[in-house]
Formats: sequence, C-alpha cells, structure tokens
Amino acid sequence: MRIPMTTRKPDKLSTERLRLCPLGPEDGARFFPVLKDADLYTCIPEEPPVSWQALRQKLMRYCAGPPPSVLEEWFNWGVFCAKRPIGTLQATIHVPMGSAEIAYLLGTAFRKCGLASEAVFAMTEWLFIRCAVKLRRSGRRYQARGAPPADPAK
Ligand SMILES: CC(C)(COP(=O)(O)OP(=O)(O)OC[C@H]1O[C@@H](n2cnc3c(N)ncnc32)[C@H](O)[C@@H]1OP(=O)(O)O)[C@@H](O)C(=O)NCCC(=O)NCCS
Repeated sequence: MRIPMTTRKPDKLSTERLRLCPLGPEDGARFFPVLKDADLYTCIPEEPPVSWQALRQKLMRYCAGPPPSVLEEWFNWGVFCAKRPIGTLQATIHVPMGSAEIAYLLGTAFRKCGLASEAVFAMTEWLFIRCAVKLRRSGRRYQARGAPPADPAK
C-alpha cells in the first residue's frame, strides 16, 4: 500500500540483533558519543557534531523535513544493539522518481560483524514495502538475504 506523503513517518523496525527507532532531537545526547568520532566521516561529505547540542539542532532540522518546494521525504533512524546506541540510518526519497538515497553510519567498535548490512537490509525492505521505492540493482550479498527482484525496466 502506498501511504500519502504527508502522513509518512519512519516505523520502529526490528532485526535479529537490532532495533531501529525513529531518530529525533531528544536523541542528540545519547548518540553524540557514537557520532562524534571523526573516523566515521572520512568517506562522506559531513563533519562530526561538535557537541550534543549541535547534534540535537541537526536532528531538529532532519525531523522538520525538507522545505515544501523540495519533493523529497526524509527518514532517520537510530540503531540500537542490546539497547546501546551504535549508529544511524538515513533515507531521502526523491518523490517524482520513486528512488531513494541511503546513508549509514556505524560506530567503529561495532563494525565487521554484519550489523550495518543487517540494519540497511531492514531499512530498505521498509522503503520497498511502505514507500514503494524500486530496487534498480542489487549485489550478491543483498540477493543472498532475499532482496526483492530488481525492476527490469530500469
Ligand atoms: C560503512 C559501514 C557502516 C560498514 O560497517 P561494517 O561493520 O563494515 O558493515 P558490515 O559488517 O555489515 O559489512 C558490510 C560490508 O559491506 C562493505 N561496505 C558497506 N558500505 C560500504 C561502502 N560505502 N563502501 C565500501 N564498502 C562498503 C563493508 O566493507 C563490508 O564488506 P566486507 O564484509 O567484505 O568487509 C562503516 O564502515 C561506517 O560507518 N563507515 C563510515 C560511514 C560511511 O562511510 N557510510 C557509508 C556511506 S553513507
């Protein structure tokens, strides 16, 4: 079912090891210790937050969503493992194209054990089902997890 754009909010999602919760300004303080690590930003065009207050401001902007003239939807999740905040996920839907851009950050202490893949798979599944985003390509790792068939028209 395609939900009207104005009412869509990210859902809480669960995987075997993770909980994905909608991320809001109130999460600034508890995610700051994970997200302040400069190592997370070496390959992405972003700077680490300088304080938990700065992170809260940023999350406030994310929650406010894009300006009305921009045909996008923004979704953000905090990722928890055994109740510890370990990273974040972000999806920007480009409404006219039905496509999404995704981003993911995982604290260095939690890497190399498939947690990022597990979280991203849950998020993309949600994007396919709830937002009718189409899969245009998929790698072998993704297919092995049961990704939906790619759109042959693309
Ligand atoms: C990208 C990141 C989340 C991967 O964490 P991870 O713990 O290695 O993830 P997983 O254990 O689930 O493994 C995912 C696999 O995909 C690879 N991968 C995931 N995203 C990748 C990317 N953007 N570029 C290259 N490889 C990537 C990982 O290297 C790993 O491959 P391997 O098993 O062959 O080593 C983590 O390194 C990180 O937070 N980096 C900083 C932020 C970033 O670059 N985000 C990506 C784009 S927004």
